[in-house]
Amino acid sequence: DGTKYGMKIRDGIYLPNGVNNLSYSKNFKLRDDDIFLSSFPKSGTTWTNDLVWLITHNLDYERSKIENKFLWLDPGIPPNIIDDADSPRLFKNHLPLQFLPDDIQSEKIKKIYVVRNPKDMLVSTFHFYKKLVKDEFTGDFQNLIDLFEQGKTWYGPWWSHVNSFTKLPNTFIIMYEDLIKNAHKTIKSLGEFLGKNLTDSEIKFLIECTSFKKMKETEKEFKNDDRHVDKFKSDLVFFRKGEIGDWKNYFDEEMSKKVDDVVTNRLEFEVNFVYEN
Ligand code: A3P
Repeated sequence: DGTKYGMKIRDGIYLPNGVNNLSYSKNFKLRDDDIFLSSFPKSGTTWTNDLVWLITHNLDYERSKIENKFLWLDPGIPPNIIDDADSPRLFKNHLPLQFLPDDIQSEKIKKIYVVRNPKDMLVSTFHFYKKLVKDEFTGDFQNLIDLFEQGKTWYGPWWSHVNSFTKLPNTFIIMYEDLIKNAHKTIKSLGEFLGKNLTDSEIKFLIECTSFKKMKETEKEFKNDDRHVDKFKSDLVFFRKGEIGDWKNYFDEEMSKKVDDVVTNRLEFEVNFVYEN
């Protein structure tokens, strides 16, 4: 069972240790202009978060380097910090839909959901676990594939996560591979969703300041967030390779088939995943 990998179970969902007290989040009142960024971990959340923050803050790159760019929605953040935050508040979360405030179902609230091809997502997850929870996750890549198939990686079954969020109203679905391959078009559409008509030079600027290299150099995520232990603050945790297709260095045929079967049989979201660059 997954607990030996240091995962806490709540309502049948495996969560990272530390994400355990979510009790007040269901009734939490959202503002109409709140923006909700959700994803299954290792799908490109950090990258998307930076883009959304910049688009909603006048592309103020200098400020983005020193400011906390999102709010978590769990009781670890004192309610007054969430209440006092300026609009538009950007919430970033990996929580399954059933743990989130009922207000997220509202047509008024903008949701952004990041999806990545599950094979690269799993390779990224493997390195993340190895770095972050190496004392608890002692398994190899095969073990991770098995956990994935059983829906026991952090934040629950990947397919349920994707199925539920991609059906919400007023949701912009952003594919990691689209950001890599069609950055201009994808960022333009993201801007439109957020009510901004970005010019070509603004889009170019956004692409430059959220490039993998630049973000890896300058990201100071969690800087103002004391809840995160030091290992979370170490720079390389969220920036590893930033590519499409690294999965080929890890998967054998059988593993690949397992993931393909999950996609074919359990995913309701219609998509042709891009598996190579
Ligand atoms: P890899 O481990 O495959 O490199 P998340 O932010 O959801 O945790 O996702 C992390 C993944 O997104 C990592 O994937 C990371 O390298 C990649 N990533 C982060 N910033 C990126 C950027 N600016 N461009 C491309 N990939 C990025």
